[in-house]
Amino acid sequence: MKGRLTAFFLLSAVVLGSCGTDAVSSRNSKIIRARAPEYNKDLITVGFVQTGKESDWRDANSSDFINTFTVENGYNLIYIDGNSSPERQKKAVMDLAAQKVDYIIIDPIVEDGWEPVLKKAADSGAEVIIADRMVDADESEYLCWIGSDFYTEGLKAGEWLESYLEEKGRQNEEINIVLIEGTEGASATIGRTRGINDMIAKHSNWNLLISKCGNFSQGEGKQAMDEVLDEFYDIDVVITENDNMMFGALNSMKAAGVTFGTDGEVITVSFDALHEAFERMIKGEIMVSVECNPLIAGEARKVIEDNNAGKKIAGRNYVDESVFTYKNAAEYIDSRQY
Ligand code: AHR
Repeated sequence: MKGRLTAFFLLSAVVLGSCGTDAVSSRNSKIIRARAPEYNKDLITVGFVQTGKESDWRDANSSDFINTFTVENGYNLIYIDGNSSPERQKKAVMDLAAQKVDYIIIDPIVEDGWEPVLKKAADSGAEVIIADRMVDADESEYLCWIGSDFYTEGLKAGEWLESYLEEKGRQNEEINIVLIEGTEGASATIGRTRGINDMIAKHSNWNLLISKCGNFSQGEGKQAMDEVLDEFYDIDVVITENDNMMFGALNSMKAAGVTFGTDGEVITVSFDALHEAFERMIKGEIMVSVECNPLIAGEARKVIEDNNAGKKIAGRNYVDESVFTYKNAAEYIDSRQY
């Protein structure tokens, strides 16, 4: 990238690399103010627009980008936190385009509304990589997408439930399911919900009691489960579309005296496979967590290097993911990276 950042970035972006600071002394404290950073023009400048900080998965994903796009690896990184605001994310991309950065990587909060923003980025000459969730735009509008197959993740959760019920001889019982969904309009929510609903539709004895939004956060997961427990008491399965919402739902059930997990009444099904989920699977609190891999920055770096070398780039790049359960969590916990 050429030149200095605008006031927008000084206020809202964390700029990693050769960022200067001015120390301003007051009576008892020292205030550190960011100065406009000077970039090393020999490096590749990447703007990374993150969704926010809604989950531990997201923190792992942010750290992965920050640790990958370093000066030592040949990059100036401009990290922008979307603060869970789709509008803020779009404004950030427009501003990065105006700054003529080399690459813009977006982890979009929601799929909608990206077309004009991507056009603006293309006009600026920046290459755009979509990471994690998807955008509802023609694939010609960006270089490529890297992330998870959310629909397959939803199917895998349902398949695990199917085999668990069979193992327990409960395959013909009426099964009442509660679903706590992620952020409305996010690919992770859309795909997982579709996969889960397709599995529910396959079984005439599986009843979806209610779906509630928990916005991928622990607090909202607890609140959603509190509301569910006010309304329903005969619950066989709780599915949350990420681990943090499950942690919140478990707190809610504990407070209400509802037992769950391997020794309880409620079967607990989750997504992400965070380290804490492994600990809770070992304890038998969570029964399965379908992996969603946040460590995708290395693949984004490879795309940039290949693109700069004139190699052909695949439009869609799926990351590898597994399914972990209370039965195999102890075997894998030590090798987990997030
Ligand atoms: O888009 C990936 C999802 O977003 C993860 O499942 C969730 O934890 C995150 O916040």
